[in-house]
Amino acid sequence: MSLLVTFGVNGQIASVEVSPWKRLLDVLREDLHLTGTKEGCGEGECGACTVLLDGVPVNSCLVAAGQCDGRAVTTVEGLARGSAAEPLLHAVQRELVARGGAQCGICTPGIAVCAAHLCESGALIGASDPRAKVRELLAGNICRCTGYQLVVDAVIAAALPDGESAEDGAGDGGRGDGGAR
Ligand code: FES
Ligand code: FES
Repeated sequence: MSLLVTFGVNGQIASVEVSPWKRLLDVLREDLHLTGTKEGCGEGECGACTVLLDGVPVNSCLVAAGQCDGRAVTTVEGLARGSAAEPLLHAVQRELVARGGAQCGICTPGIAVCAAHLCESGALIGASDPRAKVRELLAGNICRCTGYQLVVDAVIAAALPDGESAEDGAGDGGRGDGGAR
């Protein structure tokens, strides 16, 4: 059985005729060719597939196409502004690039989407320990390559560009936490 599903994607309307059970992740990648969204675990554990659904981060591997009808999805492609010829990266994307907060890049789109949401929600404003708060809010995004220090540095720089409490966390480096944040 297939169903016509119509939803907003990065500010445009998309209509796809798919099984209502098809994963949003697959609709994005296969039907809409938005391959920025990555698959890691495929079972809701790693966050690589994170997109915003009505402005809230979700694991697109756990969302069925039928749940998206009439709603709005933002993928990593939708974070940048400007044109295809002259893209203007989101501050989080710029900082991840500038600070080397990515290696293989599988986790990076999900981190960028979550971190952009974090910046725009003002979640760090007034936080007594912004670095700890970033780690808490990105706890669902697992990276197997880089460690989290550069990612946290990038998010802090994007969210608190004036440097408020952006001290580098001594002892915060590497993956020594086994991925748990
Ligand atoms: S691929 Fe969706 S959470 Fe890992
Ligand atoms: S950069 Fe490879 S999983 Fe994070």
